[in-house]
Amino acid sequence: MSVVSKTSPILPPDIQSQKGRTPLVMLTAYTTPMAKHVDQHCDIALVGDSLGMVLHGLPSTNAVTIEMMILHGQAVVRGLSRALAVIDMPFGTYEESTAQAYRNAVRILAQTGAAAVKLEGGHHMAETIRFLTDRGIPVMAHIGLTPQTATALGGYKVVGRGAAGEKLLSDAQKVTEAGAFAVVLEMVPSDIAAEITALISIPTLGIGAGVSCDGQVLVSEDMLGLFNDFKPKFVKRYDDLGTRASEAIAQYAAEVRNRTFPAPEHSFSNKSNVITS
Ligand code: KIV
Repeated sequence: MSVVSKTSPILPPDIQSQKGRTPLVMLTAYTTPMAKHVDQHCDIALVGDSLGMVLHGLPSTNAVTIEMMILHGQAVVRGLSRALAVIDMPFGTYEESTAQAYRNAVRILAQTGAAAVKLEGGHHMAETIRFLTDRGIPVMAHIGLTPQTATALGGYKVVGRGAAGEKLLSDAQKVTEAGAFAVVLEMVPSDIAAEITALISIPTLGIGAGVSCDGQVLVSEDMLGLFNDFKPKFVKRYDDLGTRASEAIAQYAAEVRNRTFPAPEHSFSNKSNVITS
């Protein structure tokens, strides 16, 4: 059950008004079945561009295309009845100009039926966030470690230690003033995340940003143990579905080879019309 007390679909203003209350819960979803699971328990389903690595085996998020985001976004929206769908704008689809960002955000929302987009960047993206929000496009911001530009920032590392903390506080203020309805803080020291959370009027959603944020987000496949190629410290594994899937597949393979599958209950006679269990 979601913390947003509402039976109709959750909208960006509902998320914004949750600031400082029961923590918001966000997980990624890239497919209809995962969206159905997320919808039962979470407030926000994020179609993250992490799908490039998790589902498509890409080395980073940079090769993810707008077509991939739209296809997975459509699948996720079909699986949701309450949670807010937020779709990542992929690398290269919003940085060039406000007009480019607007055109691609409209395309994503119109073709998927999602309610909001997410884009990475602080100060330098404030003008774009303002352009989109002034035109009725809800934007979730993403600061701290921004995976699309991680290489330029020096790789996957904590952002905001020491003097960089001031810059992060100012990034958080800028995206808030620009009209973002929430902001993801990725790999940010817990004390800086707490300071940002106290300072700004929109909810902070932490991933590797400590317990003081207004909510938390993880990649579903990470927390379920389905994606083990990369294990950042901030991921807690709530299950080991990868090992369980592998064991189940091994058992299926053995049963096919020794002819114990299919059993009579999985087979049809020419008398019965029963086709489901
Ligand atoms: O792409 C993604 O999944 C994300 C989350 C990790 C916040 O941006």
